[in-house]
Amino acid sequence: MVTTAQKAPEHSLTITDNRTGKTIVVPIERNSIPATALKKLARKQDAQQGDKLEDEVEGGLRVYDPGFMNTAVVQSRITFIDGEKGILRHRGYPIEQLAEKSSFLETAYLLLYGELPTKSQYTLFSNEVLHHTFVHRDLQEIMGSFRHDAHPMAMLESAFAALGAYAPEANPSLVGQNIYTNARTSEASLQLMDKQIFRLLGKAITVAAMAYRMRMGRQFVKPPAGLSYTESFLYMMDHLNEGSSYRPHPTIVKALDTLFLLHADHEMNASCAAVLQVGSTLVDPYSAIAAGCAALYGPLHGGANEAVVRMLVSIGSVENVPAFIEKVKRKEAVLSGFGHRIYRSTDPRSTIIRKVAEDIFAITGRDPLLDTALALRDAALSDPYFKERRLYPNVDFFSGLIYRALGFPTDYFPILFALPRIAGWLAHWRQMMLSPQGVKIWRPRQVYVGEGERAYVPLKERKERKVERGAEPSVVNHPTSTRVFLARESKL
Ligand SMILES: CC(C)(COP(=O)(O)OP(=O)(O)OC[C@H]1O[C@@H](n2cnc3c(N)ncnc32)[C@H](O)[C@@H]1OP(=O)(O)O)[C@@H](O)C(=O)NCCC(=O)NCCS
Repeated sequence: MVTTAQKAPEHSLTITDNRTGKTIVVPIERNSIPATALKKLARKQDAQQGDKLEDEVEGGLRVYDPGFMNTAVVQSRITFIDGEKGILRHRGYPIEQLAEKSSFLETAYLLLYGELPTKSQYTLFSNEVLHHTFVHRDLQEIMGSFRHDAHPMAMLESAFAALGAYAPEANPSLVGQNIYTNARTSEASLQLMDKQIFRLLGKAITVAAMAYRMRMGRQFVKPPAGLSYTESFLYMMDHLNEGSSYRPHPTIVKALDTLFLLHADHEMNASCAAVLQVGSTLVDPYSAIAAGCAALYGPLHGGANEAVVRMLVSIGSVENVPAFIEKVKRKEAVLSGFGHRIYRSTDPRSTIIRKVAEDIFAITGRDPLLDTALALRDAALSDPYFKERRLYPNVDFFSGLIYRALGFPTDYFPILFALPRIAGWLAHWRQMMLSPQGVKIWRPRQVYVGEGERAYVPLKERKERKVERGAEPSVVNHPTSTRVFLARESKL
């Protein structure tokens, strides 16, 4: 940092704190400034000027950014998105080229290791991943103990947390907190890290298939030999008693593999941030991936494809589309599958998915909901309300229809998003562990706006008072219990 006495460099920001008159010059690197530079804008706490202890003015200025609307938390080499132009690139390769020419597992390699693999590198990687599809027998008992109607994401999330228990040698709490950060210099650590990546990718399809079979009341199936990643997943889901020669339909395999590829990474979204937040404590990667599943499970993240299908079913048919559009414009409904925080023109993935949908419908038959979806898309794209707000179809607009056509239960859709995203999460986790700067625990700041210091009042001296809604525990209904009435009558 330089002072204003010197001429400020071109790539810098000059900030004057009007409370104190102090000026700092903050370097701009790659169009970003270090948030900690603002800590220099500190001053003595001054009650006259309305300072409170809780404002921490002596610790310097803080950046308040709820929802991370403009905070970069990593420097990354993995994925680039330009939301204005509708660009998505992994390691520099446009998503359109990858979707056309690559496979999910090859793209996973690219995300993880930075380059497209050579033939021998790919063989080694895919062999390792598929070698690790088997799970401990006890895990079958864990998965088998869920209710048949448990949400598949609840099962997946639990499965990853449980898987960590079967790899004590990979648990920093047991064998040393630096086992992954040492990978920068230690060959053994690097191997340990990559082995967990192979295991997580391999076992992901097995536990995801187990979650499906629990849902359908079917016996679990052993991972097959000699099939591709996506083929193995479909095999473990669908194989019944056709004998070991059973093979999933190649067009379905190809389509699902493309969908997996399209979902493999999307830079710093909510679930990736959750994986890195948890990973920054140096916990084992199984726990970090379980956290990613939890974040993705939320309806604001991984649930939109499901919402699209429910919306299309509720609209019913093409003639009801205009009325629905009017309802959206009156803000009585949301057009699920439209709009994106980052993409303000087209979402490049939605264009590719539209083509995949046609391949699938050629086999499964055309879903009548597709006509409703197309009419809805066309009506929205030509309506000023959506044009002015720059709302376009996103990745979820057509993916739900494909999953439905393939016969996946609606509550299984988020699994089909989470499964490929594990590759992206692991790529970001690996990048973080290997960071030359080391790993800093993600410990955000807060702006405290609560009470100042006050003295404890003993229970017997506290007066009954009216409180605002939500400022005391709710009285919940226990239909079979008299405890609520007893509690109310005790006048505690
Ligand atoms: C993705 C999403 C959460 C982005 O939200 P955001 O960046 O915060 O966008 P905003 O909420 O600021 O939207 C700006 C305006 O467009 C409207 N809008 C955004 N998405 C809309 C949608 N899908 N249907 C109807 N109106 C929408 C908002 O109501 C707002 O209108 P206003 O200016 O009159 O208040 C939002 O577009 C959405 O809810 N989409 C539907 C869910 C979905 O498909 N999610 C998957 C994303 S991959």
